[in-house]
Amino acid sequence: MLLNLLGCREIINDLQGYYLSSLSHIIIINISLYLNRMKKIVFIVGGAGYIGSHMAKHAVLAGYDVVVLDNLSTGHKDAVKYGKFELCDIKDKTKLDALFKKYQPDAVMHFSAYSIVSESVVDPYKYYDNNVSGTLNLLKTMLDNHCNNVIFSSTAAVFGNPEYVPIDEEHIKKPINPYGRSKLMVEQILEDFSQAYNLKYLVFRYFNAAGHDVDGELSERHDPETHLLPLIMQAARGNRKNIAIFGTDYDTKDGTCIRDYIHVDDLCVAHLSGLNVFFNEGKEVHSNNFNLGNGSGFSVKEVISKVKELTNKDFTVVERERRSGDPAVLIASNIKASKILNFTPNKSKIEDIIKSLI
Ligand SMILES: NC(=O)c1ccc[n+]([C@@H]2O[C@H](COP(=O)([O-])OP(=O)(O)OC[C@H]3O[C@@H](n4cnc5c(N)ncnc54)[C@H](O)[C@@H]3O)[C@@H](O)[C@H]2O)c1
Repeated sequence: MLLNLLGCREIINDLQGYYLSSLSHIIIINISLYLNRMKKIVFIVGGAGYIGSHMAKHAVLAGYDVVVLDNLSTGHKDAVKYGKFELCDIKDKTKLDALFKKYQPDAVMHFSAYSIVSESVVDPYKYYDNNVSGTLNLLKTMLDNHCNNVIFSSTAAVFGNPEYVPIDEEHIKKPINPYGRSKLMVEQILEDFSQAYNLKYLVFRYFNAAGHDVDGELSERHDPETHLLPLIMQAARGNRKNIAIFGTDYDTKDGTCIRDYIHVDDLCVAHLSGLNVFFNEGKEVHSNNFNLGNGSGFSVKEVISKVKELTNKDFTVVERERRSGDPAVLIASNIKASKILNFTPNKSKIEDIIKSLI
């Protein structure tokens, strides 16, 4: 698509040079403006964070005009390497409104949220305020400005303790913490808004996003870091003195929790398919939800030993008690995403994910 658009633009540029002296250049310039407008504008809200910054890169390379909106509460300005940047809090309706009027986006990718489960338990207000009220504000501003397409970052946490694995989209949703509940509330709001206001939405429920941009331009920088792979990598680099395993008596092959790791680039490709649904396919697949994982799981011990093998570094592993609220196994069924969005997690072999971190 990018090549097509660039191709058109180059032709138009040539034509503009050729006809500059004649009246017809007005027509050419108008066509050029029209083609420019055909380049869809996408707001990446939360695009200074881990997944959003990778998304901005994918979207720009796919030919979209990207504007990143972020309040930098957990994100980093220097992670915005693709697209324009606008400092904006989604709770600030006036600022949001001004930005929607300025850019007139065709779609919004909504990554902005707080996402630390333990923090959500001790400070639920912070989570409902940002993740739910903030999102309501964003959605209202979208509708006020005739922008009807949104992709929402949801999470496996909406399911709570799984009753079966792999977890498909029909699995009962019983989140066990305020973070998961805040995401489920937004899913329900989206469904209601879609019926009442013709909002088109896609809910993508990520399992464990992992890995970095293969060109090494972008990374994962959460503070505090709570995700397993970055923590193990810190231990492998000697930046933390050990890695803790929480629970070694689960009903799994080696007693440690099993998780489904999905490379961030695979998530981004799924989002591009989502934009395609809005802009090109015209199929009635919008206003739908999808679980995004690689469909297989690795135990904490397996991940640690793979990192040791691939980095050739040894580090201390300590075994601790179970943490409350950690299900033994979380694995996604990605059958629906693969059927409808052609989702193929090409980069999500655990070796490839770890190699992207080295
Ligand atoms: N990382 C994962 O494994 C994972 C798994 C499931 C779901 N998710 C969801 O994916 C999304 C992105 O996750 P991430 O790991 O990139 O997190 P992140 O913290 O790196 O990124 C979130 C971004 O949103 C911004 N933000 C937060 N509140 C905002 C506000 N009120 N206004 C404007 N910007 C705001 C932050 O500054 C940050 O840049 C989140 O919604 C998260 O809940 C992530």
